[in-house]
Amino acid sequence: MRIDATTRALVTGASRGIGRSIAQALAARGAAVGLLARSRDELEALAAELGPRAIALPADVGDRAQVEAAVERFIAEAGGLELVVANAGIAHYGPLLAQDVEQLEAMTRVNWLGTVYTVKATLGHLVDRADGHIVVVSSGAGLRAFPWAAGYGATKAAQRGFAEALRHELSGSGVSVTTVYPGEIATALHDHEKATMPDWYKGGDAAADAGRLAAAVLRAVERDERSVAYPPFVRLLGLNGISPRLTDAILRRLRGGTAAPRR
Ligand SMILES: NC(=O)c1ccc[n+]([C@@H]2O[C@H](COP(=O)([O-])OP(=O)(O)OC[C@H]3O[C@@H](n4cnc5c(N)ncnc54)[C@H](OP(=O)(O)O)[C@@H]3O)[C@@H](O)[C@H]2O)c1
Repeated sequence: MRIDATTRALVTGASRGIGRSIAQALAARGAAVGLLARSRDELEALAAELGPRAIALPADVGDRAQVEAAVERFIAEAGGLELVVANAGIAHYGPLLAQDVEQLEAMTRVNWLGTVYTVKATLGHLVDRADGHIVVVSSGAGLRAFPWAAGYGATKAAQRGFAEALRHELSGSGVSVTTVYPGEIATALHDHEKATMPDWYKGGDAAADAGRLAAAVLRAVERDERSVAYPPFVRLLGLNGISPRLTDAILRRLRGGTAAPRR
């Protein structure tokens, strides 16, 4: 699909970080953009910045009825929908024993069910018109999960399995799917737990910014690529499916022993 002024796109988690950068990149191409997240003020300020074709859609992706209402409103106001970016997400890192079940439930609700609700609320529209593309923002942790991120990694692996199957399932339908595997991107995702991050976590460096990732996502949609890994070395984590031992060895070298402590 070409992304231009005829494109109508819905982005979840658009109030900041990766989603905001994707929304800005889409608006820069002239696309109409639906901005979905919970923070109404941030969304309205971003919509004002992006121009009259941007629509603030305050909603919680973990609430199916809110997602359905936001999608309906966007389709009515924008006149249609071609591109869906299921990006909204939260993270809670820490040893499983010390984590509250509520944190695991919240990640399941937002990261996994939020993706399901977003795709289910939009897919019928795309397939009926035989025209559309879905982007699912998973994580490198969906390719190889890390200690202290068991719950988070599980939600990201769920997104990966979902998107991989759907891409094949929709073959011939005019609708396609791209999965995104970000590495450590400089955003506010871990701001609430900065002091307690695991040793293997290095944080997003200046090169791994959300704007570059957004440009890679738009390129991948236009080329109908199966996946985007950014920074590109994140793709190495896919080796885990072939040789977990080799992946562990690489991670120990790159991130130290806490990334793969069991020999
Ligand atoms: N940054 C990284 O290093 C990294 C690495 C791998 C994968 N990812 C993935 O990339 C995606 C975006 O993360 P980010 O780094 O951009 O984080 P971020 O800066 O914290 O942004 C997260 C976005 O999700 C929205 N969101 C959170 N809970 C929501 C809910 N219940 N309903 C609707 N929107 C909700 C937030 O808006 P409100 O708070 O306003 O609702 C915000 O717009 C996530 O899926 C994350 O797992 C990030």
